[in-house]
Amino acid sequence: MAATRRLVNTVAVITINHPPVNALSSSVRHALVEEFGKASKDPTVEAIVLNGSNGKFSAGADIREFGTSAIKTVSLEDINGTIEASQKPVVAAIEGIALGGGLELALACHYRVADIQSRVGLPEVLIGILPAAGGTQRLPRLIGIPAALDVIVRGRHIPATEALNLGIVDEVVQGSAVDAAIQLAQKVIGLPLNKRRLSTLRISSNLNMEDFLDTTVEKTKKQFRGAQAPMACIEAVRASVLLPYHRGVEKERQLFLSLWATGQPQAQQYAFFSEREAAKWSHPSGARWYSEEPKLVRTAAVIGLGTMGRGIVISLSKANIPVIAIEQDAYQLEMGKKAVNSLLEREAEKLKQQGFSPGSKLASVHFTLAFGELQDVDLVIEAVYENMELKKEIFRKLSSVCKSNAFLCTNTSGLNIDEIASVTDRPNQVIGTHFFSPANIMKLLEVVRGQQTSLTTIATAMNLGKILGKVTVLVGNCPLFVGNRMLGPYLEQASYLLEEGCYPETVDRAMEEFGFAMGPFRMMDLAGLDVGWRSRTEKGLTGANVPQGTPARKRLGNRYSPLADLLCESGRFGQKTGKGWYQYEKPGGRTARPDPWVKDFLQKYRKTHQIKQQPSNQEQIVERCVYALANEGFRILEDGIASCPEDIDVIYNNGYGWPKYRGGPMYYASFVGLPKVFNTLEKYYKANADVPSMKPAFLLKKLAAVGGPPIKEWRLQVGKPVNKL
Ligand code: 3HC
Ligand code: NAI
Repeated sequence: MAATRRLVNTVAVITINHPPVNALSSSVRHALVEEFGKASKDPTVEAIVLNGSNGKFSAGADIREFGTSAIKTVSLEDINGTIEASQKPVVAAIEGIALGGGLELALACHYRVADIQSRVGLPEVLIGILPAAGGTQRLPRLIGIPAALDVIVRGRHIPATEALNLGIVDEVVQGSAVDAAIQLAQKVIGLPLNKRRLSTLRISSNLNMEDFLDTTVEKTKKQFRGAQAPMACIEAVRASVLLPYHRGVEKERQLFLSLWATGQPQAQQYAFFSEREAAKWSHPSGARWYSEEPKLVRTAAVIGLGTMGRGIVISLSKANIPVIAIEQDAYQLEMGKKAVNSLLEREAEKLKQQGFSPGSKLASVHFTLAFGELQDVDLVIEAVYENMELKKEIFRKLSSVCKSNAFLCTNTSGLNIDEIASVTDRPNQVIGTHFFSPANIMKLLEVVRGQQTSLTTIATAMNLGKILGKVTVLVGNCPLFVGNRMLGPYLEQASYLLEEGCYPETVDRAMEEFGFAMGPFRMMDLAGLDVGWRSRTEKGLTGANVPQGTPARKRLGNRYSPLADLLCESGRFGQKTGKGWYQYEKPGGRTARPDPWVKDFLQKYRKTHQIKQQPSNQEQIVERCVYALANEGFRILEDGIASCPEDIDVIYNNGYGWPKYRGGPMYYASFVGLPKVFNTLEKYYKANADVPSMKPAFLLKKLAAVGGPPIKEWRLQVGKPVNKL
């Protein structure tokens, strides 16, 4: 039964029953119509309470129904209209979540009672659409335009106490929301309902609404570059100001249909489901996520409290896992402690505002220099400098100190997991946990399995990712893993574009207009140019170890761009030194301005090396950089490093500022058409045989040859994930 009804005194309690999240599928909508119909007609019923089974009100419309005929049956907005018009008071009892259509349903009820742990919101924008069951019309009438815009355009999940302050819910309770809703329902029997019908309310405001909305449009355009849904949300809210309710709802519907035609919702919904699929990992042995039990991580340790370690400590503490935090000396420990404590204070403040006692949610952090204190921890995450010898030294120590069943994780951004594991007494319990900076904020976690990593270790690391609230993807072990490996050819093309006549700001602008959160040069300045320089020096690509007589722009017979090395040699390491591809207001400054020094440097460089200037236009810049990225993705699939294209897209969407409304680099390649991507790469490679990264991958060639099948069919061509490296 998609919805059930029971009677408590004279209150009918209608319960949505569609596990796991009570999505409002066609069968639920039909059942709601039926149960409300019966409750309305039943003379013994004086009030109605609506709730969801298993402690979840509802996650909204069933996203899987979009684009199918199921969505065309009874509409949620019609149901909302019926509920709102009911002569008997209807109270929503919100437990767990009331999201999207779920909140719209609750807004159609006359009263809303929420459990303190619950969250409400209209997150449709995050899947490329807008609230389309009256949400953009009812919410502004309830909480005013500025607050409604904030909720709808950002798609935030709002904690119950904030929802109470905003006026979205009428009551927040510590105990059972259903019991409280029944009590409230009994209290309001017979009271007039007119003022509780949101669609009938007028929007009152002292603001100059048109100016306010226009300013919001401008801000939003900048913030969500290229994403159509946030703009449509604003236009729908504008309609709530200008039009009567029913015409506003029509506008909402029209905007929904025009959004659908852009293709962005399909890409974002692909991204949504791909994220959930990534958790269902598979292993080359055939083992799957459901065949392995993760071990419980009750305590953890973090080694190194630099940029990454600090964020990892916060993530663990927020997940209620007590942490031991270790540094190399008293000074670094004190620095790390200060940074961690100040971040923890901020988290505690947030919790207080949400009505929680921080002590009940944030686990303790113990700071020490003594490795000996790690003897009882269940799991250690190492985050010291990116240096193989240092990492090995740490893992040898861990091996001798930690209990035999402790898991040992490394946060390396690309070093060989097997080599690190080889120095321990338990290579089967060693795994890569590659967080992204800042680790307490960024959603992505790449879990890197080594040759000997056991299935239990994988299951434990994947489960830890889930507990930390991360989008976690299992990948194989190869230099730089998936995300950073794909960056190589992408950044290489960006540098070649500079050699050929572009400037950092031209390339960045093109990529940012494509939708990237940050262009490649701003990204390198943020990360620090010295990191890559050190790695190239170690590999003998630059510095004293480059063999005498090596041409400046060639390495091992292939094209090489020394531009980044030359910048580093001039002390330009990016934001940290106030100068890199751009200039900044001060060392550590964040505002990038084009630097005349860089322009002059590039012009001299091109002259010295007699490079013909042929600056590319925006479309060419995007094609070269993005196709280079996707091409490496195809190689990663061939090598069995990622088990499916969806995993690669999840990594790019959540760790690299890729615009989600374009689905991810692999989805984008499929959207553009694989034959086109193949032909463009092939043409480039034929003209530039010294750039092997642009040689079309074999898998791309194979898929293009059969016309570029939809992405979900690529698996058939890829075959089973076997690590071929
Ligand atoms: N429709 C269909 N399936 C949904 C769904 C939805 N709205 N929300 C979640 N699911 C599915 C997931 O795909 C997953 O399926 P699986 O088990 O087969 O992989 C399962 O429910 C559990 O989801 P999660 O793994 O994400 O579980 P969590 O507990 O981590 O998170 C959640 C739960 C917070 C509800 C999260 O799933 C979520 O954010 N869901 C989407 C909410 C949303 O965007 N709602 C708006 C929908 S559009 C809408 O309502 C339009 C309306 O305006 C007309
Ligand atoms: P960092 O330089 O900011 O911090 C490293 C910390 O390790 C320092 O505080 C240092 O004192 C400490 N340390 C060094 N030797 C130690 C020892 N013997 N015992 C205890 N602590 C010791 O480095 P960052 O950026 O935090 O990087 C750490 C690791 O994370 C590296 O492997 C890096 O490649 C990886 N990484 C970095 C990312 C970034 O954006 N910075 C992103 C993802 C991974």
